[in-house]
Amino acid sequence: MIEYKDKERLFFIKAKGFSYVFYVNEAGMLQHLYAGKDVGSIDIKALTDFGDDHARHYLKAGQSTESVFEEGIYLNHSLFEIGCGGKSDLRSPTFLIGSNGDYVTDFRYASHSIYKGRPSLGVLPHFRDPKGEAETLEIILKEERKNIQIRLSYTVFAGESLIVRNTEIINTGKEKAMVRKASSLCLDFPSNRYEFLHFPGDWAYERQCVKEELKPGLKVIESKSGRSSHDHSPFFFLGNKLEEDHGEVFGFSFLWSGNFKAEIGVYKQHDTRVDLGMGEMDYSLDGGESLVLPEAVVFYSSEGLASLTHTIHDAVRKHVISIPDLSLKESIVLNSWEGCYMDFDTEKILSYLPKAKAAGCELFVLDDGWFKGRNDDGTSLGDWTVDEKKIDLNKVIGVCHELGMKFGLWFEPEMVSPLSDLYTKHHEYAIGDERRLRTLTRHQLALDMANPEVEEEVFEQMDKVLSSYDIDYVKWDHNRALDEQYSPYLARRGKLGNFAYESVLGYYRLISRLEKQHPGILFQGCASGGGRYDLGTLYYFPEIWASDELDPVVRAFILYGTSFLFPLVTFGAHVGKNPITPFDTKAALALFGTYGYELDPTKLKEEDIVTLKKHAEIFHKYHKEVVSDGDFYRLSSPYTENALGIECLSKDKKKALVFYMTLLKENRGYRFLKIKGLEENKLYYNDFEKTVHSGSYYQNIGINLSGFRDEFQSNFIILEEVKDA
Ligand code: DGJ
Repeated sequence: MIEYKDKERLFFIKAKGFSYVFYVNEAGMLQHLYAGKDVGSIDIKALTDFGDDHARHYLKAGQSTESVFEEGIYLNHSLFEIGCGGKSDLRSPTFLIGSNGDYVTDFRYASHSIYKGRPSLGVLPHFRDPKGEAETLEIILKEERKNIQIRLSYTVFAGESLIVRNTEIINTGKEKAMVRKASSLCLDFPSNRYEFLHFPGDWAYERQCVKEELKPGLKVIESKSGRSSHDHSPFFFLGNKLEEDHGEVFGFSFLWSGNFKAEIGVYKQHDTRVDLGMGEMDYSLDGGESLVLPEAVVFYSSEGLASLTHTIHDAVRKHVISIPDLSLKESIVLNSWEGCYMDFDTEKILSYLPKAKAAGCELFVLDDGWFKGRNDDGTSLGDWTVDEKKIDLNKVIGVCHELGMKFGLWFEPEMVSPLSDLYTKHHEYAIGDERRLRTLTRHQLALDMANPEVEEEVFEQMDKVLSSYDIDYVKWDHNRALDEQYSPYLARRGKLGNFAYESVLGYYRLISRLEKQHPGILFQGCASGGGRYDLGTLYYFPEIWASDELDPVVRAFILYGTSFLFPLVTFGAHVGKNPITPFDTKAALALFGTYGYELDPTKLKEEDIVTLKKHAEIFHKYHKEVVSDGDFYRLSSPYTENALGIECLSKDKKKALVFYMTLLKENRGYRFLKIKGLEENKLYYNDFEKTVHSGSYYQNIGINLSGFRDEFQSNFIILEEVKDA
C-alpha cells in the first residue's frame, strides 16, 4: 500500500512488514526517512534532526546573503533517494549527467501519481504482475538547468516484503546529454554497523559466500565484463548481524545481465549508502531520447536470512521466471557434453539414447559440436546449420521420440569464431576495434549485439533451425567475457559509450523474439556454467546451468551460496561422471536443483542405473512440490560446519527432503540434524531412522546422525506427515 500525506509531502510505502518512507523537503529534493520493520507513523522532525550545522546554510542562485534550510536538511549528510553528488553530498552520486565537465545534477520534485499496476519496460526484464497486485508511486523530478527529467517509480505487490524501483531519464531538451553514471538504486541508512554478505567466485567456483563487517570507506563489487560474471553477483545483503533465523536483513539486486557496480559506502557521519547500477558509462542521450535503467529491487526481512530467502525465492518464482511448459521443466534431462564433448557422430548419439532412457532420461540434449565444421572449439560459431556429415539430426530426434523422450539443442548465439562463414563475410559483426589487437577467449570473438543487423542475422539462423527440427529445449551458452567493449556499429554512429547498455538490450531483444516465435521451447541459460546467473537472464531463462563444476563437494559450496539468491527450480544441476563420489550422493545432491544427467550413459553400470532410476522415482514423486515450489532451508554450512545440510519443505509442510554431506572425515561425535519449518504438533515419518516424531521433536532435538563419518558421506532423508504414530 502506498500513502501520500499532503501536508508533509510524505510518501509512505508499506510492503509486507516493511516500511519505506521519504518526503519532498523544502528544497524539493526527495529526502529519505526510514526503511525497515513496519512502523505506524513517522515524525520527520525527530528523524532528521542533526543539530545546527553549516550544511544547512546556502546561497540561492544570484544572491549574496545566505539562506538557511529548515531544520533537518543538510546537503552533505541528510539521507536521500537520489544521491546528489556535487552539492556537498560527497557520497556516491546516483547520477552524473551533462556535458563539458559539468555532470552535477540537481533533481527537484515536480509531480507524482499513485496508481494500480506498474510501468511497462518493454524487453527490459522486470517484475511481472501476474495477479494484478502491483501498486506504483511515480514521481517526476526535473533538472531545469539541463532539461533532464527523471521518472522515478516505486512498486509494491500486495503481501510481499519487497520494493521495486524504476528510473527513466528523459532528455527534454534539444542538446545531447552524456550520462556518465545512472544508478538504479540509492538507499541511505542512518547507521554504520552493518555486515555485508556477497558472492564472489570464478569459473567452476561460482557464488561463494563472503560475509564481512563494513568499515568506513567504500566497498565495491562489480563486473566490467559485459555480463554479470562468475566473478561477482549483482546481488548482496546488508544487516546489522546477518544470521539465519534472527535479525533485520536487506537484500539488493537488479534485473540486469551486463556490467554492474555496487558501491557500499560507510561515511564519517556514521551513515551507509548503497548504490547499485551499471557502473561508469559514457551514454549519449540525444534531445528527445530517454534511457530506462535496469529495474532494482530491495527485499526485506526482520527475521533473518532464512525468511529473506523465502521472500526472494517466492518473488523470483512469481514475478521473474516464466515457465512455458511445466512438463518440460519437470523432465529429467541428459546432456551430452560431459559424455562425449564434440567427439560424436550419429551412431554414438544413437547408442546413448536407449541407455539414457533406461536411466530415467526424458529429454535428451545434444550439446556443442552439431553444427557446420564444429569438431573443436576453434571454429564455426556463427554458422548455425546442421553438420549433416557428422550428425543426422532428424534421425536422432526420431529415435528420441520413439523412446518417448524430448529433444534439446545447444547454441551460443552471441559469439562468432574467426574461422566461420559469418566472420568471413562480416568482420564488422564482431566487437573490438579491428585496428588493434583483440583478445580471443576459447578462440572466439563476441558478436556486436548492439547492431540490429547482427540480431537479425542470428535470429534468422536460429529460427530456421528451430523451425526445421522438432526441438523442445535450447541450451543458450555464452563462453567469453566482453573484454573489448567496442561496437563497430555504435562507433560509426558516434555512440560508442552506449555499448554496455545497448549490447545487453540486444541480447534481451533476441531471446524475446525467439521466445515469441517458439513459445513452446524451454530455454536454459548458461555462460561457461554460471557466468550469467542474474535476475535479468532469469526473466527469459527459467533455469540456468549453475556451474561447469560437477564435483559434489565443490557443488555443495556453489549450491549453498546460490541458495541465498535464487530458487532451486532455476538451479541447473546434473549427476556427473565424477568417479570419487558415489552415484547415490551425486543423485541426491542434484535433486536439489533441476535434476538430470551429464555423462556417457553407455558407461553406466547396472547398479548405477538402479540408483539413478530410484532417484528418478523420487524426482517424480516429490520434486515439483517440495523442491521446485517449496521452501528452502540451510541447516548446516559447509563453510563453518564441515558439512552441507539442506532441506526443502513443501508449502503445505507435509513433505520434506533433507540432504547432509560431510566434507572432511570426522571421528565419532554427537550430531543431531535439526529440521526446520515443520508443523510443531504434526507427526512425521523419516525414512532414515524409520520412525515417527513430532515437528517440534525434529526442530528441537533433530535426527540422530551421530557416530563416525567418512569424507563425502551423505544422507538423503525423506520426511512425510503421518496421521498416527
Ligand atoms: C560451456 C558450458 O558450461 C558447458 O556445459 C558446455 O555447454 C560447453 N560450454 C560447450 O562448449
